[in-house]
Amino acid sequence: MTKQLHLAAHFPGVNNTTVWSDPESRSQIDFASFRHLAETAERGTFDFFFLAEGLRLREVKGRIHDLDVVGRPESLTVLSALAAVTTHLGLAATVNSTFNEPYELAKRLATLDHLSGGRAAWNVVTSWDAFTGENFRRGGYLDKSDRYVRAQEALRVVRKLWESWDEELVLDQGGGVFAREGAGAFADEGDHFSIQGRFGLPRSPQGHPVVIQAGDSDQGRDFAAEGADVIFSRHGSFEAGQAFYKDVKARLPQYGRSEDSLKIMPAVTVVVADNDAEAADKAQHIREQQVSGPTAIVLAELLWGRDLSSYDPDGPLPAEGPVVGSGVTQGRVGYNDPAPIIAEWRAQAEEHGWSLRQTVINQQNRQTFVGSASTVASAMNRHVQEDAADGFVLVPHLTPGGLDDFVDQVVPLLRDRGVLRSEYTGTTLRHHLGLDR
Ligand SMILES: Cc1cc2nc3c(=O)[nH]c(=O)nc-3n(C[C@H](O)[C@H](O)[C@H](O)COP(=O)(O)O)c2cc1C
Repeated sequence: MTKQLHLAAHFPGVNNTTVWSDPESRSQIDFASFRHLAETAERGTFDFFFLAEGLRLREVKGRIHDLDVVGRPESLTVLSALAAVTTHLGLAATVNSTFNEPYELAKRLATLDHLSGGRAAWNVVTSWDAFTGENFRRGGYLDKSDRYVRAQEALRVVRKLWESWDEELVLDQGGGVFAREGAGAFADEGDHFSIQGRFGLPRSPQGHPVVIQAGDSDQGRDFAAEGADVIFSRHGSFEAGQAFYKDVKARLPQYGRSEDSLKIMPAVTVVVADNDAEAADKAQHIREQQVSGPTAIVLAELLWGRDLSSYDPDGPLPAEGPVVGSGVTQGRVGYNDPAPIIAEWRAQAEEHGWSLRQTVINQQNRQTFVGSASTVASAMNRHVQEDAADGFVLVPHLTPGGLDDFVDQVVPLLRDRGVLRSEYTGTTLRHHLGLDR
């Protein structure tokens, strides 16, 4: 059976794919920017709009990472404002489970679900290290292995709260509304939370806002297989995508779940132009804007875990090996096993005669789909039909116009091929994702 593509729009923001120097680049925090991207995604009948979360400004050798200084507003607040100017588009907020309480999480997400008529989603992240959590912590820090335990418990409790209002609301004789006894009552006793009381909101339109997961470890994958509706993955290439897809879908039966109850949507980048050759030139130009000499050094420092400031970005790759967990760069996803990646970088640099900067540009910032609209539509469709993904989270390089070309040129072709809806057929995000059956 032909699969339908699921598309989501990632707001560019604090991302190393974002190009700031382009004259078309606009504010990261003006509502007009969020609105433009959301309206474009809705015009393209995307499933949802996605906001990531940053808990702390990232640092490189004690200095604030340049991409962070433009700021990042709070996701649920932005999405509530977008709910008022969109009608069908799903609204997904990344909110960590390490530093938030289930009651607040359940209430904020259920509120967005009510305000938007059933379009809310929660991307549950655990955050990666003590540095990112320092703004929040009240003392001891939760170990990495315990963070998924807490996430699992938080998700279970949040779901209990969402379900706590199954009682009917009834009118009393004076015309007021009251709930039958029991409404909103909950109690939960676990390792991380021990709470009881009444939840403050009746059941929201989706009942359960959509749950997204974005961690990559074994523990993270199991967490997703047990409880998520969507995985936002980093495996956008065809081969890596197929391997990830197979791995995660094979984990579902042990939780009594069917294959299509969990949608896999990797982050991808797209460059489209009039023909393939022009698109390749454009892609190269974008990569060069994304990776200046200093940025190449920072990205290499993240991989090597070393101070590489004495190296020339236009010279050869550093001769020494990596150090894991050195803390040279703080607040970013590091590499658990950098050695094989560095070995691959060395092999490619040698084969093509690349400098360090050219290696970063070609190895790390290579866009996923590059070509004419027809080439891009075919490649995306192949990824989905051949189970490298169920859809994609598109990460544009420009705020806020980065999806304009895609929606104008590629979306009509996907519709012609019958793999993307031309109109929304339902009102909730669960419906768009095919998860309401
Ligand atoms: C594709 C992807 C996107 C992520 N986005 C965020 C984010 O926006 N905010 C955040 O705090 N953590 C984010 N994370 C981090 C994860 O929540 C998690 O803490 C981290 O990946 C470590 O877990 P793991 O070992 O299972 O990968 C992201 C992870 C991945 C793989």
